[in-house]
Amino acid sequence: MAVGQGDVAPSQAWDVIVIGSGAAGLTAALALAQTCRVLVLAKGSLTGGSTAWAQGGIAAVLDAGDTFEDHIEDTMVAGAGLNRRETVEFVIERAPRAIERLVELGVPFNADGNSLHLTREGGHSHRRIVHVADATGWAVQQALLRAAEAHPNITLLPGRSCIDLITGRHEQRYSGSGRVWGVYALDEESGRVEAHVARATVLATGGAGRVYQFSTAPRGATGDGIAMAWRAGARVSNMEMMQFHPTCLYSLEVKNFLITEAVRGEGGHLKHPITGHRFMPDYDERAELAPRDVVARAIDDQIKRYGLDYVHLDISHQPPEFVKEHFPNIHEKLLGLGIDMTKEPIPVVPAQHYTCGGVLVDLDGRTDLPGLYAAGECTESGLHGANRLASNSLLECFVFGDAVATHILDNWARFEAPPAVRPWDESRVTDSDEEVVIKQNWGEIRRFMWNYVGIVRTTKRLERAMHRIQMLNGEVEEYYRHFRVSTDLIELRNLLQSADLIVASALKRHESRGLHYTLDYPGMTAPPLDTVLVP
Ligand code: FAD
Ligand code: SIN
Repeated sequence: MAVGQGDVAPSQAWDVIVIGSGAAGLTAALALAQTCRVLVLAKGSLTGGSTAWAQGGIAAVLDAGDTFEDHIEDTMVAGAGLNRRETVEFVIERAPRAIERLVELGVPFNADGNSLHLTREGGHSHRRIVHVADATGWAVQQALLRAAEAHPNITLLPGRSCIDLITGRHEQRYSGSGRVWGVYALDEESGRVEAHVARATVLATGGAGRVYQFSTAPRGATGDGIAMAWRAGARVSNMEMMQFHPTCLYSLEVKNFLITEAVRGEGGHLKHPITGHRFMPDYDERAELAPRDVVARAIDDQIKRYGLDYVHLDISHQPPEFVKEHFPNIHEKLLGLGIDMTKEPIPVVPAQHYTCGGVLVDLDGRTDLPGLYAAGECTESGLHGANRLASNSLLECFVFGDAVATHILDNWARFEAPPAVRPWDESRVTDSDEEVVIKQNWGEIRRFMWNYVGIVRTTKRLERAMHRIQMLNGEVEEYYRHFRVSTDLIELRNLLQSADLIVASALKRHESRGLHYTLDYPGMTAPPLDTVLVP
């Protein structure tokens, strides 16, 4: 099943390896485990992905006055027409069933009498977000994990940093087939690199948010899956579409704390911190409930125009009990920082939040590479287009996690047993004596990405970023070839690869659409085209 250095090829393989234990990975694993033996690998802890951090909820048409057509339309409007309608329909029509399955798994969604309570977020024309107060992701992660831990066909292996996919090139009898047979992963405790092999491999590694200095995403969101798939030969698309959430807490003590969009959905207003002017109606008729790209750009404009550090998000006009009931965790967290959101506004700034682009997949979650599937935030499935609609992301994880499993199970007879593969080669590396290189490069990437590839772009700034990426590419590759791998080094390499893909994609798009806004091409060109990069 797994072999380390010097071992001979494995005589036994897993049926399926799932890389990632968030919403997408565990949904796929649970469905596959009906008949397959599944190994789930995760970097760090099993709850270290974005899933556990999700606040607002999951979008689904559950209200009598709501329709699939409206949810589809809202998704396409937010996505600035770049979405693939077929995918949007596929996901949205499967949303009510996905919520039912979560209820069956024991997710304690807030209720409203006999129905689920539905909150509202930007870009949605109806109340359609099911939630567990303001900590939906944690409840979902726990329910999925409980079910996976209890399943006899699932083996969970945390503390494994996957490095690269095993492909035909790693077979003992070299093949240029591009077929994926599993993954090389670093055991974070022992420092050994093991080859995990399987008939099918599913990437569910989340986004690349940490490529930016300010991000709501957890530390491990370094684009590992996207970079691994790219290196193995899969196409990626729309990587320039990085989403910035409008309201991340501005605090000198706490970094990366999200203030859910549901605060605006439940009546919160965005205001100039000195004059108290409510500015969103000046930018868009939907005011605070405009899609995220619009609201983030408006805040960015206020901050730059008036030289501000932050703007205010104010919900103190709502009754205190209403605020505490809807946002218990945020309320408590802010109280600890000396901010009482029932009485005063919250200082907020935009921060990177979601990676809309990723590994190109079809409706079965198939990538370009035989044997390799992908689901969730590491993919570009066509659902989000140029800007993700709030609370459509967890939904995508459930629908595509399931779609991947269905396709593998339906075609199981065609998945041949893996051949003998070569163990990880460490014969030419030594222990690093210059860890400072990793820290320095990591910080540098995140700063120039924030300053040059942020909410408002120009070609000149993108070219500056690309120039720096090219210089760092040589340095990081040389370091990688000479020194033994560590999680930090694996992440740095992937972060740089992700930055490269984002900037290359941004340079290719000669228009402003959704999240990609450039002063050099302020208009939209027709028809909408994906930015597809081919390795
Ligand atoms: P993740 O949950 O990020 O999981 C990734 C997994 O991959 C982890 O287990 C990680 O350890 C593993 N992994 C990564 N790299 C490696 C590697 N090299 N080797 C081994 N394992 C690896 N979306 C909504 O729809 N509604 C919301 O309310 C919402 N709120 C959010 C709030 C915050 C603060 C954030 C950051 C995001 C929010 N999102 C929300 C987005 C949503 O949470 C994510 O898009 C979604 O959870 C992604 O799930 P995933 O399964 O694709 O990846
Ligand atoms: C939020 O709660 O504002 C995040 C929702 C999302 O990212 O979809």
